[in-house]
Amino acid sequence: LGGNNVSKIIILGISASPRHGNTEALVKEALMGAAEVEGVQTKFIGLAGRQINPCKGCVNICHPAITEAKPEKIVDRPWHLCPQKDVMHEVWDALVEADGIILGTPVYYGEVSAQLKAIMDRCTSLARIMADGTIKPELKYKVGGAIAVAGCRNGGQERALTTIVHFFMFQQMFPVGLPEVEDQAWGVAGCGNNPGDVLKDKWASWFGKEVNSVNNARKLGKSVVTVAREIKGKLI
Ligand SMILES: Cc1cc2nc3c(=O)[nH]c(=O)nc-3n(C[C@H](O)[C@H](O)[C@H](O)COP(=O)(O)O)c2cc1C
Repeated sequence: LGGNNVSKIIILGISASPRHGNTEALVKEALMGAAEVEGVQTKFIGLAGRQINPCKGCVNICHPAITEAKPEKIVDRPWHLCPQKDVMHEVWDALVEADGIILGTPVYYGEVSAQLKAIMDRCTSLARIMADGTIKPELKYKVGGAIAVAGCRNGGQERALTTIVHFFMFQQMFPVGLPEVEDQAWGVAGCGNNPGDVLKDKWASWFGKEVNSVNNARKLGKSVVTVAREIKGKLI
């Protein structure tokens, strides 16, 4: 886990939209919610205007099970052996240093953006060989929160959220959702088309209470902090 002080929690938010739009806005709201908790440090990475390439599958270069087995190739952070020089180098280090990770995506054809899929695929290199020979995924025991924004109310947010949650599970992370039953379940499902629309997105809950995406994002940020602190306290 990032750092070694349970009172200090690092929360990373990533917006995998190619524009400064709704996803970016909600991820920043989630980070604001997280930052309201004392001792929390937040970091934002947005992919708008940044170069990110898909994984080329040359895992014999970056995957620790192979690279670290060759003594001449032992490196502290094998993911930096990736020959593609793009934003992933910044993303990898930020992911490894964080205690909690909030991933946000626009919904494209009912799924996560190609940019987020590229991040997920290229996290294959995020592992390390331990003294006993086992491989420890670098993101193990970190806490994850998911955000998806689509143009329509039922435009594929749930499927995109599920993809993110599956990624967290694959990495042996702990996915967390929203704390109250009448909010949303396994992440924030925002609705909006033009940049900024999602900041006005609201609807009535089961009980007739007004619910909105900004509050949900802030609650998600806080949930990630709460669980990250709990887990970090147990591990240290
Ligand atoms: C390539 C593309 C595919 C899209 N697919 C969907 C979709 O399947 N469902 C939907 O409701 N909206 C879809 N949209 C609309 C976006 O999800 C919506 O504009 C969202 O606000 C984009 O987030 P951003 O502002 O963070 O970029 C699509 C937009 C684009 C550009």
